Amino acid sequence: MSDIQGRTARVLQDWSQRGEHWDRHADALAEIAERFNQPLMQACGIAPGQQVLDCATGAGEPALSVAEAIGQSGHLTATDLVAAMIAGAERRARARNIANISFKVSDMTALPFDDETFDRVICRFGLMFVPGPERAAREACRVLKPGGRAAYMVWGPIAENTAFSVVKEACEQVFGRGDPLIELEAPFQLAADGALRAALEAGGFAETSVETRTFAPRLPADRPFWGPQLDMTVGRRLDAATPEERAALEAAVGDGYARFIKDDAYHLSAVVKIGVGIKAA
Ligand SMILES: C[S@@+](CC[C@H](N)C(=O)[O-])C[C@H]1O[C@@H](n2cnc3c(N)ncnc32)[C@H](O)[C@@H]1O
Repeated sequence: MSDIQGRTARVLQDWSQRGEHWDRHADALAEIAERFNQPLMQACGIAPGQQVLDCATGAGEPALSVAEAIGQSGHLTATDLVAAMIAGAERRARARNIANISFKVSDMTALPFDDETFDRVICRFGLMFVPGPERAAREACRVLKPGGRAAYMVWGPIAENTAFSVVKEACEQVFGRGDPLIELEAPFQLAADGALRAALEAGGFAETSVETRTFAPRLPADRPFWGPQLDMTVGRRLDAATPEERAALEAAVGDGYARFIKDDAYHLSAVVKIGVGIKAA
């Protein structure tokens, strides 16, 4: 097995164990999802009637929102490496009567679609997990029609993303560094300056651009909010934890977030990058 195949097998195993953790919070997190979707869909130039491919669909966003935005004359193809991740997305699409959507388990570095099939390729928080992200960009470029556009949202540096930095610090405190069930490095693999753009250029796009977006969520300080976040990021570890470890992690996360309380609110920050690639016309 090559290095790439080995790393992809580990990503597959990792996310196969996380499907239910993501599925159970997807509806409650719809409002947050929408805040990330809007700038990404705008950068991608989503419009009615388009054929759109969503890579790394996970629990369903932005796939479901894009399907609604492109209307019945368009079609959204939702894909993910992991069947368990898209099972909930399929169920939610049926519940919302979204008919212009289809689902396919597939690796974004080896897409099962013909050249020049799609008007747009969109991907939210997925490209960072791909070993050799330029391989995914090359595939996106191949399946886009001439002049088509791909847009990827990835996390900026962990230090600027409070939700991750607090959880990482708390996990290291309770479980030590390098616990195999905790993966908090991968989401930041394209955070460094120039990394996302380099992947898009190597993928063969004629034009590329990257913008940074900062969000500053304010949450009431009297309400612990991190239950869903812990479940989605380190739920696998918590499933295997003792009650004492679980309580210690929750306390450490609470203490970590307490540093961000000001005027009765948690003042958090989230920084993302949006990379756009346009295929030559
Ligand atoms: C953080 S989740 C993002 C899900 C969703 N797009 C969102 O923003 O909520 C990352 C997803 O990437 C998927 N993924 C990882 N590597 C992939 C690959 N090579 N091809 C397709 N999907 C992949 C995982 O299975 C997982 O569902």
